[in-house]
Amino acid sequence: MGYKITLIPGDGIGPEIVREARKVLDAVGKKYGHEFDYTEILMGGCSIDAYGVPLTEEAVNTAKASDAVLLGAVGGNVGNSKWYDVAPNLRPEAGLLKIRKDLELFANIRPAYLYSELKDACPLKDEIIGDGFDMVIMRELTGGLYFGERHTESVNGVMTAVDTLTYNEEEIRRIAIKGFEIAMKRRKKLVSVDKANVLDSSRLWRKVVAEVSKDYPEVEVTNMLVDNCAMQLVMNPGQFDVILTENMFGDILSDEASMITGSIGMLSSASLGKTKLGLYEPSHGSAPDIAGKNIANPIATILSAAMMLRYSLDLDKEADAIEAAVAQVLKENYRTVDIMSEGMTQCTTTQMGDLIANHLA
Ligand code: NAD
Ligand code: IPM
Ligand code: MN
Repeated sequence: MGYKITLIPGDGIGPEIVREARKVLDAVGKKYGHEFDYTEILMGGCSIDAYGVPLTEEAVNTAKASDAVLLGAVGGNVGNSKWYDVAPNLRPEAGLLKIRKDLELFANIRPAYLYSELKDACPLKDEIIGDGFDMVIMRELTGGLYFGERHTESVNGVMTAVDTLTYNEEEIRRIAIKGFEIAMKRRKKLVSVDKANVLDSSRLWRKVVAEVSKDYPEVEVTNMLVDNCAMQLVMNPGQFDVILTENMFGDILSDEASMITGSIGMLSSASLGKTKLGLYEPSHGSAPDIAGKNIANPIATILSAAMMLRYSLDLDKEADAIEAAVAQVLKENYRTVDIMSEGMTQCTTTQMGDLIANHLA
């Protein structure tokens, strides 16, 4: 059967890692008899260079007409690129925010688990790692600080920048429901993370999460302040099953969680809304410092492609096969440089993609 996939290579290492994910998808397609029909669109800096905007309406329409979207990453060297000193809606990252908003992808799932093979790449001590950890960060993706009014102006001669954080109860309720639904399929433990000791939006968050929790009596719910959560993640990561949190907190906590899996190059993500159409991307950025060197870890993107098969295309066994192939390659001791440790065989981006694809052949 044929599936329409929109590919967004983007900037920096984006094209390098998307190429490897496509290689793996093609191997899965061949093995299980599916055809993936790819259409590439520009987003981010490359779109600004071509069209003057980070994402065109035509590109959005292409994405909307497909079954799923697979993204590498967008953006340049922040603070030091030709795309920095421009209006907020003309920056590379604005393309990403626009596609998330236009496709109404309010739920971002970022799974962080430790492969036993990557214990040596995890910066935590053995006694903290214990039996490992397996958590999901459920991040609200279309509200909060990212989408509030922002501007910079001179107030009585003093330059003043304003960013606003707004959530309404409906936005909180729909992400909370997604969080509880995923908890029901896992170990039924949900930690809702906020800053309710300071922020009104967090107090509303807590109230709505408590209301929604009544419909899921089997799920054990606790509240945790975000600063404490940042600490608990490195003190006792095994305690977490589902972390439910707002947009900015989820952004920061997921980068922290990624590092304890061994590298940010391991953390995949799925952005979902009300329909089957989802956007799949690694949690990391365009890594301008290593772009063009063929050393980036493509696994986060490859695992995102597996999530795409599972959530948007209902191809569960194909998704399982990709995940098994990744685990197998790690078991065979192949590592990109970011997860390299003693006694392992170092490989490039391309080699890692080939190894994973070969296991699916
Ligand atoms: P980054 O995630 O790109 O890089 C942070 C560090 O992690 C760098 O040292 C980088 O080399 C390393 N790294 C990232 N991905 C890696 C991989 N797959 N393999 C090995 N090492 C990897 O974050 P940053 O440097 O803060 O941001 C760079 C640009 O990316 C910015 O323009 C930012 O806005 C953008 N960004 C985009 C996305 C996205 O498109 N989804 C996400 C995050 C950041
Ligand atoms: C991410 C990124 C984006 C975010 C940026 C590039 C807008 O950091 O996907 O984690 O903050 O959501
Ligand atoms: Mn981020």
